[in-house]
Amino acid sequence: MLSKRLKAIADLVPLNAKVIDIGTDHAYLPIYLYLNDITKDITATDISQNVLNGSLNNLEKYGLKEKIKLIKSDGFKNVFEAYDLAIIAGMGTRTIIDILKIKQLPKELIIQSNNELNVLREFMNKLDYKIISEVVIKEKNIYYSIIYYKKGKEKLAKHEVLFGKSNNLEYYKFLYDKYENLYKKSKQMIYLDYKKVLNEIIGKIQD
Ligand SMILES: C[S@@+](CC[C@H](N)C(=O)[O-])C[C@H]1O[C@@H](n2cnc3c(N)ncnc32)[C@H](O)[C@@H]1O
Repeated sequence: MLSKRLKAIADLVPLNAKVIDIGTDHAYLPIYLYLNDITKDITATDISQNVLNGSLNNLEKYGLKEKIKLIKSDGFKNVFEAYDLAIIAGMGTRTIIDILKIKQLPKELIIQSNNELNVLREFMNKLDYKIISEVVIKEKNIYYSIIYYKKGKEKLAKHEVLFGKSNNLEYYKFLYDKYENLYKKSKQMIYLDYKKVLNEIIGKIQD
């Protein structure tokens, strides 16, 4: 039932944590976490009532209507309990950053943004969250980076802000080719810089 991307997220969730899935859509991830005994303490939210009607249908289908809490909420606005871990996946970085601009965030976050990962990493770093692990998966020819954050300071190198900490050689080679093509088309120097950084990382991994 779960996509490869959502399964990779589920694999990062610690056992028995109190979890909130922000922007749950179909609620597939909470259902998987519950049915696979990863945690029974799950809240799912979405900004859209229409979407939540679909989530509720899915919860009913699996007999989980009374087990998984559903909240209609823009980010954390209608969330009043504390959680060990929040999952925010399948949205763009700007939306994610808006959601994260609250006073009391959980100490652990799993974030999968669809774009501007460097902006996200920089924001999280300034918010004093450190990357515990970063997993890159490829599904239907798209690479997704899933980042597990914990509260704490860290110093990120330029290449880590730009391209993360996954150490995924295939992903870095894909990015290298992407920036090579973009440079050929646009002649923008920034792409040359990205290529240089990626070349160094790829070289180190292959050493
Ligand atoms: C593309 S879906 C991703 C669903 C699921 N998290 C996943 O990764 O497969 C994005 C969902 O986030 C919801 N959403 C967008 N902005 C939101 C916000 N500010 N607060 C809560 N949910 C939001 C949308 O309604 C939609 O259901």
